[in-house]
Amino acid sequence: MRKAIYPGSFDPVTLGHLDIIRRSSKLVDHLIVGVLNNSGKSPLFSVDERVNMLKEVTSDLENVEIISFSGLLVDFARKQQVQTIIRGLRAVTDFEYELAMSQTNRVVAPEVDTIFLNTSLKYAYLSSSMVKEVAMYGGDISKFIPEQVINQVYEKYGIDQKNRKTEGEV
Ligand code: PNS
Repeated sequence: MRKAIYPGSFDPVTLGHLDIIRRSSKLVDHLIVGVLNNSGKSPLFSVDERVNMLKEVTSDLENVEIISFSGLLVDFARKQQVQTIIRGLRAVTDFEYELAMSQTNRVVAPEVDTIFLNTSLKYAYLSSSMVKEVAMYGGDISKFIPEQVINQVYEKYGIDQKNRKTEGEV
């Protein structure tokens, strides 16, 4: 059985993440989406909220499982008996960080390899931090994140329906 882990913070899940999840799920028999729960980062959404959002937006994908992890990614991979990590590469700016992370992971756990998928062009500059910044000021995030989680993001910033901008509005 071919298994892989797609790890990340997913704070919140974006359409770019979902694109990688969908494409990865076709490449393996079982895909684990690993949701980081490290105390050092202070996420907008709790780990349970992030896990639930991911479960909701991947409910149609039968071979995808959402599991949170803390500590080292390679320890999580070993625990799950997975030797393949999948990461998305957006633009060249991702490259150095991703290469450093995959090289470090391979020194710590030589049996674990990282495979990179290029992000679809329309999501090449999309990130959870940008989504949060736009949402914070009531900007339109509907083109960035799955429909099911839009309200949850605005709610975190106390932005109700009447304070949201729609397409083209400033
Ligand atoms: O979505 P992100 O925040 O870019 O994902 C980063 C993630 C979760 C893959 C990375 O921070 C991670 O693996 N953290 C766990 C700790 C670890 O194993 N670090 C790698 C050693 S360099």
